[in-house]
Amino acid sequence: MLCEVVAAWADRPGGLLPALREAQLQLGYVPAEAVQVFADGFNISRAEVHGVLSFYHDFRTTPPPPTTIRLCRAEACQAVGAESVARALEAACGTTFGAEDASVVALETVYCFGNCAVGPTAEVNGRLVAQADAERLLSLAEVN
Ligand code: FES
Repeated sequence: MLCEVVAAWADRPGGLLPALREAQLQLGYVPAEAVQVFADGFNISRAEVHGVLSFYHDFRTTPPPPTTIRLCRAEACQAVGAESVARALEAACGTTFGAEDASVVALETVYCFGNCAVGPTAEVNGRLVAQADAERLLSLAEVN
């Protein structure tokens, strides 16, 4: 699969980023062994591939847990309590935002969903949630 993705993008200018995104869409993450495949396919160093993976926070290099809660922590959502929602989620889930070793729920920070008027805004497994609180998010995630 990785070789097919590389082949589809290797000849396009700026193709590395969409190719990595495509790999993540198909696998849920970009595995460590993919770095060499992309480096070879794009004729760049492994460090360059790793640099792109580590620069963009949406890329995962480990398998994702079954549930992902993404919480907006930009200013408008902060003003209506996003940080207290974040603390409650961390306490309930036993993990922290951005931790790659989460086994049940991944907590991810987003800076604006474009849904600012009804914040705090979050997303549970791709489902947008307005006026989110921790209890509701955990209920939607079927955690607890
Ligand atoms: S600031 Fe949170 S959705 Fe825009």
